[in-house]
Amino acid sequence: MSAYPQIRMRRTRQNDWSRRLVRETALGVDDLIWPLFVSDSKTARTPVASMPGVDRLSVTETIKDARRAVDLGIPAIAIFPHIDPKLKNTSGSEAINPNGLVPQTVQAIKAEVPEIGVIVDVALDPYTHHGHDGILEDGEILNDPTVETLAESALVLAKAGADIVAPSDMMDGRIGAVRQILEGADFNSTMILAYAAKYASGFYGPFRDAVGSSAALTGDKRTYQMDPANRQEAIREVALDIDEGADMIMVKPALPYLDIVRDVKDAFQMPTFAYQVSGEFAMIKAAAQNGWLEEQKVVLESLLSIKRAGADGILTYFAPDVARILTAS
Ligand code: PBG
Repeated sequence: MSAYPQIRMRRTRQNDWSRRLVRETALGVDDLIWPLFVSDSKTARTPVASMPGVDRLSVTETIKDARRAVDLGIPAIAIFPHIDPKLKNTSGSEAINPNGLVPQTVQAIKAEVPEIGVIVDVALDPYTHHGHDGILEDGEILNDPTVETLAESALVLAKAGADIVAPSDMMDGRIGAVRQILEGADFNSTMILAYAAKYASGFYGPFRDAVGSSAALTGDKRTYQMDPANRQEAIREVALDIDEGADMIMVKPALPYLDIVRDVKDAFQMPTFAYQVSGEFAMIKAAAQNGWLEEQKVVLESLLSIKRAGADGILTYFAPDVARILTAS
């Protein structure tokens, strides 16, 4: 028997109020994490060409944006550094400098804007002159020595006041090593957000411009980041990071990997985040600037879709715009 006309799906779609009543997913300001690029240059704000509206910030400007985030109701920011190329080397040793740009920035934010959650990427790519997330020897990214450096770096960042450390490298065993060093030093409250299922994606291009790691990047990251073809492997990756002590896990990029977000959320019921990465941002911006897409509409739709797929929160460069939209309506 045909359901029509007893059933007409359009009945509940007729009015704004009834659409609101049956709506299954909501996007809120509490879901947003705002990534910020901090630079050691003297310039207050340097635009990132491939990310319209996004600037590299001096420490002072980063503090101002942290304050802006609080005023907009955004719970947390994520900090990424752009450092003077002179400080870069093969091993990325600047990543463990307690007086480096990021520890100083985190301290300053914690002093000036204590209400904001501070997430810091734990990774070597902003600090290595070859742009890889690990220590490179004879054309190979060495896993275990990289993990040691990452753990030390995480401790430096925790000591500086980072609330959440987020290893984004995809080395094996790094979450366990970070947890162990934090516990050993009595930093048992520091949270770990694991970039657990991070794919070797073409969508990171603009970010690499922003942190200055693209010019020198030799080869690609396929020996450590995941193959975009793989789905079941993501479950194994996430399970390992949870076992090793992750408090939250992330899938990255977001929109092309919504199936993974859903799988991971269903499998583990963990706090699950998705990163709407620089290339996803740039695509929307470029189309909007050409008048081909309506920016506000597609931004909200993309973020809502990421939530619908199962994400509890989203790292997005649109965070301040979206917070303004959501609080205005
Ligand atoms: C590297 C890192 C990357 C991003 C966050 N951390 C780039 C990469 O893996 O090469 C990408 C974020 C974005 O594209 O917005 N540790």
